[in-house]
Amino acid sequence: MTTSKPKQSPRTPPAIVVAMDGTSASGKSTNARLVAKALGYAYVDTGAMYRTLAWYCLKTGVDIHDVRAVGTACRRWKTRLANVDGSVRLLVDGYYPEREIRTAETSAAVPHVAAVPKVRDWMRDKQRECVRFGDLVMEGRDIGSNVFPETEFKFYLDAALSERSRRRSADGIEEDLAKRDKRDSERAAAPLMVPLGATVVDTSGHTPQESSELILESIRRRLGDTAAARTADSTAA
Ligand code: DC
Repeated sequence: MTTSKPKQSPRTPPAIVVAMDGTSASGKSTNARLVAKALGYAYVDTGAMYRTLAWYCLKTGVDIHDVRAVGTACRRWKTRLANVDGSVRLLVDGYYPEREIRTAETSAAVPHVAAVPKVRDWMRDKQRECVRFGDLVMEGRDIGSNVFPETEFKFYLDAALSERSRRRSADGIEEDLAKRDKRDSERAAAPLMVPLGATVVDTSGHTPQESSELILESIRRRLGDTAAARTADSTAA
């Protein structure tokens, strides 16, 4: 039996990256955390990084509608990545604004800063830098399509709009999710989309335990296939 050599692009990440994209309130965060914990990988919430920039702009008086000003602020702010108990955080001047980034004011501001091309470039570089913390589960909107397009592990989570709205309300947040998804999908820079090669997971009617188990099965199967292909390749060499 002959086994073909696994394709290794020169941009293959030095660590395993599980990309978890999807619509708002589709269960990305819960699933990503569960999968990261089960595999012992670090968890990265990229939405929190965009939220942190939105909060920083509001705090420092940068006009979120001024594309140039937001791009400049993003180039100049003093940030550092840190792994806190398995969760990678973006600190600004050494501070993680955990509560501030979840306010209604920050949520309303974030789509504006997230649509700025210079911001997306900066975030992409910073998010790729996270592999220095080892294997990762990274959740967002453009991870499989733009940040780590070369990863083999891509998932796109979605659920019925009615269920997603119910989940948000249960969290005490009333939000027009359809409007936010539309804005995320229609922006020119790195829009929300199903990445090429992604496994689509419909979380409607499933508990996070059920859907994360499906995701884990798929990852473990693929990890097994990759390890088997590498073993066969080294035996044949
Ligand atoms: O996942 P979240 O709701 O915390 O994300 C906040 C906003 O950031 C959301 O409107 C979409 C945007 N975002 C993005 O454009 N790209 C990402 N990789 C992650 C989030």
